[in-house]
Amino acid sequence: MVLITGASSGIGEACARIFAVDPRTRGLILVARRKERLDKLAQELARKRDFEVRVFELDVRKRRQIESWAKKESELLGKVSVLVNNAGLAAGFAPIQEGKLDDWDATIDTNVKGLLYVTHAVLPHFIEKNEGHIVNLGSVAGYEVYPKGNIYCASKHAVKAITESLRVDLLGTKIRVSSVSPGMVETEFSRVRMGDQRKADAVYAGMTPLTASDIAECIHWCVRRPKHVNIQDMIIYPTDQAKPTLVARK
Ligand SMILES: NC(=O)c1ccc[n+]([C@@H]2O[C@H](COP(=O)([O-])OP(=O)(O)OC[C@H]3O[C@@H](n4cnc5c(N)ncnc54)[C@H](OP(=O)(O)O)[C@@H]3O)[C@@H](O)[C@H]2O)c1
Repeated sequence: MVLITGASSGIGEACARIFAVDPRTRGLILVARRKERLDKLAQELARKRDFEVRVFELDVRKRRQIESWAKKESELLGKVSVLVNNAGLAAGFAPIQEGKLDDWDATIDTNVKGLLYVTHAVLPHFIEKNEGHIVNLGSVAGYEVYPKGNIYCASKHAVKAITESLRVDLLGTKIRVSSVSPGMVETEFSRVRMGDQRKADAVYAGMTPLTASDIAECIHWCVRRPKHVNIQDMIIYPTDQAKPTLVARK
């Protein structure tokens, strides 16, 4: 089964759609806080194909919640062969000297600690089976920092370090670990970050951003390589973007 965190929107939802139509996918486990969205998506996907789609309302920041879910659903998590650690956000967009602690907590707790909690829940099963694939959502923000990106960039640098650490510590097992690191993708990401739709629209004004499906296709491609191939990281920019702050606009 393919477990996708943050499947209620954007890249996570697009991953659910692409894995759903792949006959090699035995089932899906979709996780996010907005359960009604997950339910709707699960119903739609289950109509297309006869396969198992399970939905869980979980907040990846809540360590005890994830721990008790891992215990309760141990049998189900034992069936997971692919974990897409996608749940993430950038809270706030301000110079570090004007940053809010709540925004910093939300960003680090989701992108770093949440990713670790879910990984910790699934990894023992991968080790027991000596197989499995973890795909972490990195970002070009994990390669360089940009003005007002500060804590989000720090969190994605951490994701890059965690991906590399998993690779080195799991070396000798058959477990694969990848990250996919996009530039600008038009999802709900900028609305969450900026707090309103008008400001979010301005982020993509006059340029063509990546779509959530562009990234989901890359994730699916990484996962469906032969088992001896480990894509370590994939950096994907829109043609109109060459660096985090270098964007060609009409
Ligand atoms: N969009 C971009 O330009 C871009 C670029 C590089 C990397 N990324 C990364 O791509 C990933 C997906 O982002 P997106 O662009 O698809 O944004 P999005 O449309 O806002 O989706 C984010 C997803 O994460 C989930 N999520 C957030 N906090 C959560 C929590 N505490 N517990 C469980 N789920 C949580 C959200 O679901 P709920 O709100 O329902 O919980 C939602 O499904 C993130 O890791 C992001 O950093 C995005």
